[in-house]
Amino acid sequence: MSFDPRQVNFLQVGAERYFLLDPGDGPTVLANGSCPHRGGPLHLGRMEDGTQAVYCPWHVRKVPLRHLQKTALPLVLRRDGAVAILPDTQAAVLMQKKTILAGASRPCEAVAPLAHAE
Ligand code: FES
Repeated sequence: MSFDPRQVNFLQVGAERYFLLDPGDGPTVLANGSCPHRGGPLHLGRMEDGTQAVYCPWHVRKVPLRHLQKTALPLVLRRDGAVAILPDTQAAVLMQKKTILAGASRPCEAVAPLAHAE
């Protein structure tokens, strides 16, 4: 599915949530938004510089960026938008723009597509 990452940074696919996560020192990923502990909303968590983790807002557990990168959906940022490979093509998809990681030093309101990609 394709979308404009300037307008959409949060996807709900069936019961699953995904959000655009810019780790700062690596590629932007479409991270699973459910905390591995008990499903808390990771997009509402916070990321502090140098911690390489997102802190879940429910029980403040640390979810390593490495884990979020490994479990992210395939995503390609292009000049004209983004393309993600969804796990369930039959599920209803809700696309939204939310404030992501509001407690981060660099909150992710939206992500500009790559200027140099084909
Ligand atoms: S649900 Fe995330 S820390 Fe418990």
